[in-house]
Formats: sequence, C-alpha cells, structure tokens
Amino acid sequence: ETQEQLDAFEARIQRGEKIEANDWMPAEYRRQLIRMISQHAHSEVVGMLPEGAWITRAPSLKRKTILIAKVQDEAGHGQYLYHAAETLGISREEMVDALLSGKAKYSSIFNYPTLTWADIGMIGWLVDGAAIKNQTMLAGCSYGPYSRAMVRICSEETFHHKQGKEMIVMYAQGTPEQRAMAQDALNRWWWPAMMMLGPHDADSPNSGVLTRWGVKLKSNDEVRQEFINEHVPELLEAGLTIPDPDLYQDENGDWKHGPINWDEFWSVVKGHGQMNRQRLEARNAAHDEGAWVREALEAYMNRTPAQAAD
Ligand code: 3HC
Repeated sequence: ETQEQLDAFEARIQRGEKIEANDWMPAEYRRQLIRMISQHAHSEVVGMLPEGAWITRAPSLKRKTILIAKVQDEAGHGQYLYHAAETLGISREEMVDALLSGKAKYSSIFNYPTLTWADIGMIGWLVDGAAIKNQTMLAGCSYGPYSRAMVRICSEETFHHKQGKEMIVMYAQGTPEQRAMAQDALNRWWWPAMMMLGPHDADSPNSGVLTRWGVKLKSNDEVRQEFINEHVPELLEAGLTIPDPDLYQDENGDWKHGPINWDEFWSVVKGHGQMNRQRLEARNAAHDEGAWVREALEAYMNRTPAQAAD
C-alpha cells in the first residue's frame, strides 16, 4: 500500500463515495469489514434460536405466523450479510467454520434465554429496536454491499419492531399476570439490549478506524443514546418500570442511564453467558444434520454428462 493509494482512498471516503468490491481498499478496511459483516451475519443466524424456541408454543395462530415470518426474515438477513462478506474475499466455509468452532463472535444479546412468551415481544421491541438504530446508521456506511444490505434489512426490521411493541403494550395493559410477565421480560432484557450496542466509545478499539473510513457514522454511545431516548418514554408510557434506579432525563431531554455491567458483557462475549454453549451446540447440530444437503448438491454439481442427460 502506498501513501498515494491511501490518500486517494481517504479522499473518496471524504467525498462520500461508496467503495465497491473491486475497488482498491486498504487491507485493514477489508479486514475490519470482514470482521464486522461476518459477525453481523452470525448474529442473525444465531438470533433465530432464542425466538425459534417459541414457534411451537406461540399463544395463537396469529402470533405463530408472525414469529415464523420474523425468524425467516432473520435467516434471510444472515444470507445477505454472508454474501456481502464474501464480496471481500472470505469464503462461506471459512465464516461458518469460525462460528461453529466458537472462534467467531456474534451478538452478546443472543446468549440470553427466552424464558416466557413475553420475551419474544421484548426481543422484538428492544433488540430489534436497538438493531434498527445500529443498522440505520450502517445503511450509510462507505462499503457499498454492506450499505445496500442494511437498507433492505432495516425495512424488514421495522415490522419486527412494531409487532414486538404491539405485543408488549397489550400485555402491559392486560391482566395482572400479563403485566407481570411483560415487566419480568423487561427486567431481564433491558441491560443486555443496552450492552448489545457495544462498549463505551472509550473502550471501543475498532471505532477509530471504522469512523475514519466512514463505516461507523455514529459511535456506540451515540447509537445507544438514540435507543434509550426512543424506548424509555414508550416503555414508561406502557406502564412498565425500567430496571435502572439511576435513570434520569437531563436538561437536553436525553435519558441518562446507570452504570452498565461490562464484566457481564465481556463474560458473555468470551463464551460464558447463560446460553453460549447451547447456541453453538444447536448450530453445530444443524450443520451436521444438513450435511446430506451439501453432499447432494456436490454430487449434483459433479454429475457426469451421462448422468446429466439421464
Ligand atoms: N456482542 C459481541 N461482541 C461484541 C459486541 C456485542 N454486542 N459489541 C462489541 N463486541 C466486540 C467487537 O466485535 C470487538 O471484538 P473484535 O474486535 O474481536 O471483533 C470488541 O467487542 C470491541 O468492540 P468495538 O466497539 O471495538 O467493536 P465494533 O467497533 O465492531 O462495534 C458493534 C461493535 C457496534 C456491534 C459493531 O460491530 C456493529 O455495528 N456491528 C454490526 C451490527 C451487528 O453486528 N449487530 C448485531 C446484532 S444483529 C441483530 O440485532 C439482528 C436483529 O435481527 C435482531
């Protein structure tokens, strides 16, 4: 890499140009995007597991069909994102092996258990709500394939978000048991959703270069602030209590939260969360059970002309 190439690349970023797969890019830009996009794809695929556990136990046909549609959407988001990562030169096998071996990261949020049906609504409202803030930001990122994948994903996420909010608001204003179930779900998902948006900016080693090269248009803390400012008033409006005794609204109208338990965050990221083992076991089992499909495809691709003519 010459300084001239780097300068020309940075001038393109400054002009707001999209970097495309065949354009020159610094090796670190490629590495960062492979890291980020592949982990994002893994998150979508693993993210199907907590919700999938409730498809057979949905309280009505309407809720079951909505949940099936949401989980299917996430499978599709995973595909868009694996494809976006492949444009940078990494193979699907490499990415899948990294996930199955436990080497790759995926979003901490999906290592928490879904204990009641209300968790499904809370995931839709809070987790997809946080994801929308993050992904709307990434829709403007400098790497073309990622930015375009985000535009498509965000439009589907809004449906995920709305259905979750509608469900929780109904329970929060329903019977005492429903209200208790919604509050219990908020108590267990509020902080993990806050952590999902990443460490504080001061503790975010990747943010510098990602911001400089137009991948992160807002910092982890800015996206978290957007998330809090939207969701706190709505959760309070629904009659729920935010499990943060230090929460207050400052003179600018921004909601300020209490200390985040980053020890818990890093413990989950390092594989010691409540469900990390189960998530990887489920992914490995699905991969093994799907081996026959890959083998059949391989046999079909390698069929002889005589077999093809058959
Ligand atoms: N879970 C697991 N690891 C996390 C994390 C999280 N919530 N937040 C940060 N980390 C990891 C980072 O990957 C990094 O480790 P690495 O260098 O080994 O990859 C380390 O912690 C330091 O964090 P940084 O802030 O420096 O990392 P980033 O600059 O990459 O910022 C991020 C973290 C904001 C999550 C960013 O990676 C990002 O925007 N990723 C794309 C979006 C994404 O992956 N979302 C996951 C949720 S997907 C989802 O919600 C699906 C929806 O349908 C519900």
